[in-house]
Amino acid sequence: MDSRKSIEESREDFPSLKRQRKGKPPIYLDNACTTLVPRQVFESIQEYYTEYPSCSGTRSRHWFAQEVSDHIEGNPGKGIKGSRQIIAEFINAGSKKEIIFTLNTTHALNMVALGFPFQPGDVVLLTDTEHNSNLLPWLKLQKAGRIKVDFTVTNDRFDLDAFEWKLKTGRVRLVSMAYTSNVTGYTIPAREITKIAHQYGALVLLDGAQAVPHQTIDVQNLDADFLAFSLHKMCGPRGVGVLYGKKELLGQMPHEEGEAEHVIVPVIQGGGTVADSTYYSYTLMLPPDRFEAGIQNYPAQIASGAAVQYIQQIGMDRIRDHEASLNHFLSEELMNRYGDTGWFSIVGPQDAAQRGGILTFEVKRPNAMGIAADLSEKNNVMIRDGVFCVHAYFNEKFGPEWTRPISHSEHRMVYRVSSYFYNTMEECRVFLEALDEIFKERGYI
Ligand SMILES: Cc1ncc(COP(=O)(O)O)c(C=O)c1O
Repeated sequence: MDSRKSIEESREDFPSLKRQRKGKPPIYLDNACTTLVPRQVFESIQEYYTEYPSCSGTRSRHWFAQEVSDHIEGNPGKGIKGSRQIIAEFINAGSKKEIIFTLNTTHALNMVALGFPFQPGDVVLLTDTEHNSNLLPWLKLQKAGRIKVDFTVTNDRFDLDAFEWKLKTGRVRLVSMAYTSNVTGYTIPAREITKIAHQYGALVLLDGAQAVPHQTIDVQNLDADFLAFSLHKMCGPRGVGVLYGKKELLGQMPHEEGEAEHVIVPVIQGGGTVADSTYYSYTLMLPPDRFEAGIQNYPAQIASGAAVQYIQQIGMDRIRDHEASLNHFLSEELMNRYGDTGWFSIVGPQDAAQRGGILTFEVKRPNAMGIAADLSEKNNVMIRDGVFCVHAYFNEKFGPEWTRPISHSEHRMVYRVSSYFYNTMEECRVFLEALDEIFKERGYI
């Protein structure tokens, strides 16, 4: 018998799903932005504030501090695994010392961008669908003359030959790519990418913000050098993310200058990162401490473990399959209803199986703005509109003027529906009917 929690049972854990407005429950389909939070996670946060609201045992030696450390670093004697170890096992890292707590994915990506020992002329290779968080740090470095940024086009399929050509012909030092795109939902063939990149001496940083919450991740099998992700996209607390880095890339030397090629150095320094300091110099702690400067978000770090254990209880394969079946249903219904109209299209691969839980669609009609607000106002259905922090992709695809009306009567708007394991088929049906009603009201159909 399957002892895992069922989808219906899991919904009981989310108090926000119990809310009602205008006599109707919320239908939350904005999970690619941030997910809802089960009570197990905020009970963990509450436990910190109620029971041991102090710094950790790396600073103070008292009872409360020890309990904070127990919940982050583990205490086998008390049968506590600790959130760092829970996360390490979740992504199959070789050691919990490879798990660095950050503020979020953006912070983790910037840590690599700013800490990596680039040489002038080095190229960083991205895809054409990067979130601003994996574009701007590199553009900034390019502006400062430290690197060159180049792109490989993904369209609806990652072209491994074109990718290899870039590595063969350019001085690519680092490949930094969204594992799953937050706009198209497309998941790149990461294993093949790391294999090819390594053949040409380049390292690979995966932006796992939209991948880690939705599928089984095995960093050793992927052979990824770095992986960044956020807990708030996987039922966890806000304000905490992770940078995974292979042990040999996080440094072992007491001073930045002594580190080997490819090792990232900490860019933010301060309390907790050094073993010693004088008026003239300092010696660094070993990783991960050297990267976690200042008093940390301990409750969020502790609750990260609760979040990971929660989604493990649902099962990563089941999460992936459930999202796929919802997306298949939604995509088919939408295309059957509006696919021939000429003003409705799905962004990214047309095959729903290649888009995980993400369904982004374009509406090219008069007054196409405000559909997300209407869905929320009238039916409590929450989806996302706008550019999803992927301005560059849309500017390239539609032209820089695309956010303005394309004629005096037509407007182009993009909407994103993103599901998670607690969403149901019934919710998808409500969304579809509500959208249909809005299209009718606007005279589109
Ligand atoms: C692909 C991708 N990368 C990076 C981010 C940034 O994540 P965060 O805001 O948690 O730093 C997001 C957020 O939506 C994302 O979808």
